[in-house]
Amino acid sequence: SSVTRENAQRVLRDNDRGGYTVPTARLYPYQWLWDSGFSALGWQTFNEPRAWEELRRLATGQWPDGMIPHIIFHKVDPNYSPGPGAWGTSHQPPTSGISQPPVLATHLRWMLECTCDQALAEKTARELYPVLVRAHRWWRAARDPERTGLVAIYHPWESGMDNSAMWDTPMANVPTDILDPYERRDTAYIAVDQRPQKSDYDRYMALVTRFKRAGWDPEVLWAETPFKVLDPTTNCVLHRADRDLLALSDQLGIENDRAEIEGWIARGRTAFSRLWSETQGCYVPLDMLTGEKIEIGTSGGMLGFYAGVADDAQAKRMVQALEEWGRAVRYLVPSTSPLDLRFEPRRYWRGPVWPNVNWMIGVGLAEYGFSDLARRVREDLRSLIQSSGFYEYWEPTTSEGLGGAHFSWTAATWLAWID
Ligand code: DGY
Repeated sequence: SSVTRENAQRVLRDNDRGGYTVPTARLYPYQWLWDSGFSALGWQTFNEPRAWEELRRLATGQWPDGMIPHIIFHKVDPNYSPGPGAWGTSHQPPTSGISQPPVLATHLRWMLECTCDQALAEKTARELYPVLVRAHRWWRAARDPERTGLVAIYHPWESGMDNSAMWDTPMANVPTDILDPYERRDTAYIAVDQRPQKSDYDRYMALVTRFKRAGWDPEVLWAETPFKVLDPTTNCVLHRADRDLLALSDQLGIENDRAEIEGWIARGRTAFSRLWSETQGCYVPLDMLTGEKIEIGTSGGMLGFYAGVADDAQAKRMVQALEEWGRAVRYLVPSTSPLDLRFEPRRYWRGPVWPNVNWMIGVGLAEYGFSDLARRVREDLRSLIQSSGFYEYWEPTTSEGLGGAHFSWTAATWLAWID
């Protein structure tokens, strides 16, 4: 089917389950945190009340300690595994027990800025602002209790970039001795060479089993998780979201949390130097359990523009690396550097181009004044979507659409950023 605004809107409508949007039917039949954050921006271009509803439904998943989980199981659906039973959390509605890149404060600010219904936007922003402050506070309390300025993730799923080659080394250290039996459903819908390997899944599920047995207690998890990394994506997204939260507090005239948010921003800004890699020309993860930086170029590491943390020299070095990648593949931005031996152009987060990441990198590049490269990042994505439709991700040279079709964040990216 052809790529038009009407068709993009239809994707969101088809994936609407009554107030929340699934990423795509069958493969992902629940509400995912960052997917919904992007879907809301798409909805806002043609149905603002529905866009706000998307965020309000995410808020129903928030835990008492402030965490917004990465999946909310509003209605049980046997198409997806691991479902609510495997997670064994106690929240109602049932949820997973981990989070995902915290895009919401940034998106809420954008929505407030381009609204045509100021009264509704302000009312909902006031309702959601405290939810977001609690969520950001949770990242600090639970995931940076030593106040270093950078937050840890405990599961590759939290990065949103599940099987990225970033995680190969830390995942190799995750024991699989504690592992409840599990069944995979994803490969019933998608070719196996476009999905994570079995060895990855064993470890994804071993982590879930272990955390579940620890009763999802944040202090026990901090002390005992066998996967504990500082992820550039999570930290870049959180840093930008902190700045947007501060701007929101100004706009809404809320004074109470200012000093606290300013503290997060100040500590975060200096801490980012720990993740910089001059060799890769981007930010890289740091494994907290070994103290080692994980040297690899990824699209997540290029979010330093979006976060606004790169200084002039770092920004120039990142542009140079991106241009190198852009000579090695036809379409930017591959999820792994195509110059790296671990690059796999069809396998999920190990090489393909992802629409929401292009969006964030493109926005950041434009803000830094690299308008030619920003344009290429957007136009490459436009060509990919036009050549195959609203896919989940793409092969960065052949432009083959991969993973799920009729995908919500792709339609949203089309509506709110490309068209
Ligand atoms: C999946 O099931 O592949 C999701 O990315 C996990 O959140």
